[in-house]
Amino acid sequence: MADNATPTFAERAVQDAPTDYAQLRDWVAEIAELTQPDEVHWVDGSEEEYDRLAAELVEAGTLTKLNDDLFPHSFAAFSDPADVARVEDRTFICSEKEEDAGFTNNWKAPAEMHGILDDAFRGSMRGRTMYVIPFVMGHLDAEDPKYGVEITDSAYVVMSMRIMARIGTDVLEKMSREQAFYVPAVHSVGAPLAPGEQDVPWPCNATKWIVHFPEERSIWSYGSGYGGNALLGKKCYALRIASVMARDEGWLAEHMLILKLTNPEGRAFHITGAFPSACGKTNLALIDPTIEGWKAETLGDDITWIRAGHDGELRVINPETGYFGVAPGTGWSTNPNAMRAIARGNSIFTNVALTDDGGVWWEGMTDEVPAHLTDWRGNDWTPESDTPAAHPNSRFCTPIEQTDMLADEYRDPAGVKLDAILFGGRRKTTVPLVTEAFDWEDGILKGATLSSETTAAAAGAVGVVRRDPMAMLPFLGYDAGDYLAHWIEESGKADAEKLPRIYLVNWFRRNRDGGFAWPGFGENSRVLKWVAERLEGKADAVETPIGFTPTPESLDLTGLDVSDADLDDALKVDREEWAKESELIEEWLERFGDSLPASIRERYEAQKARFAL
Ligand code: GTP
Ligand code: MN
Ligand code: MN
Repeated sequence: MADNATPTFAERAVQDAPTDYAQLRDWVAEIAELTQPDEVHWVDGSEEEYDRLAAELVEAGTLTKLNDDLFPHSFAAFSDPADVARVEDRTFICSEKEEDAGFTNNWKAPAEMHGILDDAFRGSMRGRTMYVIPFVMGHLDAEDPKYGVEITDSAYVVMSMRIMARIGTDVLEKMSREQAFYVPAVHSVGAPLAPGEQDVPWPCNATKWIVHFPEERSIWSYGSGYGGNALLGKKCYALRIASVMARDEGWLAEHMLILKLTNPEGRAFHITGAFPSACGKTNLALIDPTIEGWKAETLGDDITWIRAGHDGELRVINPETGYFGVAPGTGWSTNPNAMRAIARGNSIFTNVALTDDGGVWWEGMTDEVPAHLTDWRGNDWTPESDTPAAHPNSRFCTPIEQTDMLADEYRDPAGVKLDAILFGGRRKTTVPLVTEAFDWEDGILKGATLSSETTAAAAGAVGVVRRDPMAMLPFLGYDAGDYLAHWIEESGKADAEKLPRIYLVNWFRRNRDGGFAWPGFGENSRVLKWVAERLEGKADAVETPIGFTPTPESLDLTGLDVSDADLDDALKVDREEWAKESELIEEWLERFGDSLPASIRERYEAQKARFAL
């Protein structure tokens, strides 16, 4: 001890630590020494702890308690208006070699970045409590549990992590008993308090760093309290760091939903969908089919880990336990399953609007727009206001167990066999409603060249078409070309005839009048039915240069009011549009340089040649 009277930060951090795992204690002590918090709390994950933190945050003005009759045990948070989305330009992959980060990522040398972070984090938790959150992504009883420990100075992060991941005492005990490897993840809002200084409701810092060290498997996040930047188990671990672990260990970490679809004969199909942020994963994961006799159940809405099983099948699990879903557009008519899960309560809403009776509202929640609201910035709002009531990237954070349509297999650490993969994006033109890839390698080309118009989920311009390989552009922990090569390598471990089929989908194509050509949401079950019938060899298709698209008769349109013109606009493969698209794809593939797998280039050349015929 440095001095009898005053223990050091390091000593205080571990004096009540509920673990004897020396390596973990040492690391927590080291971070406390660096960040100098007033107090240290080891998170046990209990409900009492959650309620105590909630009460503190209500007191601090960070959370607003909602009306229990409307949204039981739920809270609304309002962020700093400058801290509302992931910050891709502040996100770094600091591999030892720059080429390992690849052209899609920001990079700095690890030593330089550690210097920057040491300066930023030094004293950054002064006046605050440091929380230590033991967590596991995936199942605690998985063959090889993927542990992490997040240190954070945000109680909002602790509460949200409890919804999104398995956290607390059980995890800490098993991790300690096994002396297991865990991903160390440090988060600070970067807003130390001087003695006596009054805190603000949403502390954050104008400077933000979201940093990953792939070889160390460590994460450092500074300056933001927003979900994707601060809940480090989610994008930072379960996608960016996990993608690197997956590369080294032989599996895949993907930005995908998992859906179980059962046909009227009782045959189940497991379908994943990789769509970029705010392009419809949560909506499809919770789909309410509009066609008779077909049943949808969900296993996950955002992240999927894929592994070739002993039986030669690709198997998938959801490593998360909650939804961190886009609120606007989630409504009783478009997504009743999500709404029912949300209405059960136990949720944290961020940047939504408040109703006068103590509930929440966002654009698209109900057909009827309330006459008066308090908008996400705390201002009076009426339907005449010219800004949205809820921020376009406002979110609900809700336990997945509250879903009526949760598939039993969600709880199985062995996961489910994967039958089909959908790659999708938001494209006003060019990309048809659904296209079946010619084969697995052609499907990889479709994933590698996936594109979408940008959304409010990340800071920056909205509506610009960008390529987003497998919807992983912002989440790759290593070189994009090496990642595509890894896909090819991993799928090679499965039996070729057991590989899933791959489909390119687009719910967002516009018709000749500028409206959506396809009604989307629950009606997407008609596309899922076509996919399932293709898997069974039943549904007809037209062969086009990009793959097989439905004949109008092969889509079940019973009871759907869609014009022939709209259907044609949704399904057509237009040569002129594809001539332009080919140029964009070619530019994109050039950017990979030598790291582009040869088979992808070959498949692209073959596609181009088919258009030239
Ligand atoms: P992240 O959680 O950020 O990764 O996004 P996500 O892929 O889960 O997106 P989500 O399902 O939340 O959908 C985002 C937006 O797309 C919402 O505003 C939805 O209303 C809209 N959307 C989803 N599905 C459809 C659809 O089939 N048609 C149309 N037109 N819009 C859709
Ligand atoms: Mn996502
Ligand atoms: Mn989502």
